[in-house]
Amino acid sequence: MKSISSAPAKIILFGEHFVVHGVKALLCTIDKRVIVSSNQIDEKVIKIKSTLGNLSTNISSKSIDEQKNPLKPFLYIARKILEKNNTNSGIEIEINSEIPIGVGLGSSSACCVAAAASISGIFDKLSREQILKLAIEAEREIFQKTSGADCAVCTYGGLIEFNAKEGFSNLESKMDFSLVIANSKETHSTNHIVHKVQDFKDKHQELFSSFCDKENMIIEKALGALEENNLVVFGQLMSKNQDLLDQLGVTTAKLRNLVNVARGTSYGAKITGAGGGGCIIGLVDDSNLDNTLANLKNQDSECFVSKIDYNGLT
Ligand code: PMV
Repeated sequence: MKSISSAPAKIILFGEHFVVHGVKALLCTIDKRVIVSSNQIDEKVIKIKSTLGNLSTNISSKSIDEQKNPLKPFLYIARKILEKNNTNSGIEIEINSEIPIGVGLGSSSACCVAAAASISGIFDKLSREQILKLAIEAEREIFQKTSGADCAVCTYGGLIEFNAKEGFSNLESKMDFSLVIANSKETHSTNHIVHKVQDFKDKHQELFSSFCDKENMIIEKALGALEENNLVVFGQLMSKNQDLLDQLGVTTAKLRNLVNVARGTSYGAKITGAGGGGCIIGLVDDSNLDNTLANLKNQDSECFVSKIDYNGLT
């Protein structure tokens, strides 16, 4: 039996990095997806075919675990599901993604969520809660400090408010906006940047704590702006969030330039995700979408426009 699942890319609207240190974050999913299909096979191997590379390993061989293989999370899920179902057969997994890799759009989390649903789906139907738990465990195989926010939004879709301690909730919003997303084409390692922020925190504890307080206030105000459908204020707060991220040292010269260009016409702009490369987002509606897109396209970036995708894991 073939089991197929799909999960969306994500955007962090507010709170990246600070969320790892206990602050709230606001995230949404967008209409770019990864599709994972899995099949039970007689051969005692786990075979993975993906844009990150291909892999074939014996179901009980642990040799891959020692390596920093980007496919490790999928091996983790496959082994866990095979063990749980007490079977000696193997699994063939195919990952097809339209989410650019390593640029802050949650490619790794979406793959973990879709893989957890697809692989487990060969045997039984897990709840979204169980899939999320498995996906976060798998992602920790390559990124120990993940807040879990990305996997949560990729599983449930829409717009969410996330807090590592208190969990998350879906937000209802009638605010009609689009996001212009510009990929700097500089890839980043989330793990590396998160450790860089940890170093910043260790060296400047009071300053970092004051940043967290400011971020908390920005997010509370953003929630208010969302309730009041106030796009102007929401955008201004995004730009304030960017100023804090800039002070944390996660913005590159190219990202800073893209943010400045986007700010010229949009309601507000910031990086999204870990930074150190990756994407920026500009908040727009029909009145300023075309101008923002055209200006960013002139800056050697790959641009596209997205709206919130409410489907989550399917
Ligand atoms: O760049 P991405 O898509 O890996 O997003 C990372 C977001 C962080 O807040 C930096 C880390 C996390 O786990 O929340």
